[in-house]
Amino acid sequence: MSALILVNGEVRDECIQPGMQALRQGAPAIDVAELVARAVESDAGDHSVGFSGLPNILGEVELDASIMDGATLASGAVSALKGYLHPVSVARQVMERLPHVLLTDAGAARFAAEINAEAGDLLTPEAKAIYLKRLNAVGRDWGLEIRDWRLEIGDWSEISNLQSLISSSNVPLIDLVARAIRYHEGGDTMNIIVRDGAGRLVSAVTTSGVAWKYPGRVGDSPIIGAGSYADDRHGAATCTGMGELTIRHGTALRAVLALSYGKSIDEAGRETIRDLRRMSGARDAWVRLLLVDKNGAVGGYCTRPGATLKVQTIDENRPRVIESEHVAE
Ligand code: GLY
Repeated sequence: MSALILVNGEVRDECIQPGMQALRQGAPAIDVAELVARAVESDAGDHSVGFSGLPNILGEVELDASIMDGATLASGAVSALKGYLHPVSVARQVMERLPHVLLTDAGAARFAAEINAEAGDLLTPEAKAIYLKRLNAVGRDWGLEIRDWRLEIGDWSEISNLQSLISSSNVPLIDLVARAIRYHEGGDTMNIIVRDGAGRLVSAVTTSGVAWKYPGRVGDSPIIGAGSYADDRHGAATCTGMGELTIRHGTALRAVLALSYGKSIDEAGRETIRDLRRMSGARDAWVRLLLVDKNGAVGGYCTRPGATLKVQTIDENRPRVIESEHVAE
């Protein structure tokens, strides 16, 4: 019955440490999950989340996040939030201060301003450069005159110029997005599940979503039951990968339901991923599932080999890296 933190393997140990310290001092799971998620949101080296996250096809960083308290099933979430550094904290405030679960876009930003959430420019020079490189590659494939767009790295000043160039160039965003998106490149989402000393489970997910997405696209991270679910009576689950698949499948909820039916953690994880594969039919489906059961057993299950998790119990000095189990068809 150990207190622990479980995250996706891309999270740096330094981001976990403040959370582990708080957990050891008796902080509730919800505070620990928020603390670690905020650290990752601030990590300029992580282009899948928060500050320095990769933008949508117009070069705007749009953030999705959620948090769920397994003791009460209370949840809060934001989607397509622009201009705020810590969407996970805004999500928590939605849970605590509104009779709602999910706020989106302008409404989420209005709420963030009203609670004095930290505002900030999210697109870093490095993320801008990655964005421009991708647009350049997609444009070349397409035969567009990229040089006329002044898209060479270092040869542009304002992202708004680029946006107006895309609009004025009659580039159909639908086609541009279809060309630009590569779901499987790198990590895409930050997942955390915390089990505290009282056995309370909290799941939180935060992300800039799939890079080069269509403006306004909402992934699974803020969708309770898809990218995240926590119920102290059974367990907690979170997902990374193709949010469109886990939304359709209800992956996080299915995994926790499997635990509620008495499956072991491995049975629940394997059956959930197998079922997702059958549902999606997509051979290139890319989803990783993190699971913690009510007793604190942990597992990771994935449609592809190579995805890792990090777990640290309060008795351990540092996080351990675990290979997630590749669940073949
Ligand atoms: N899993 C993150 C997303 O689809 O946005």
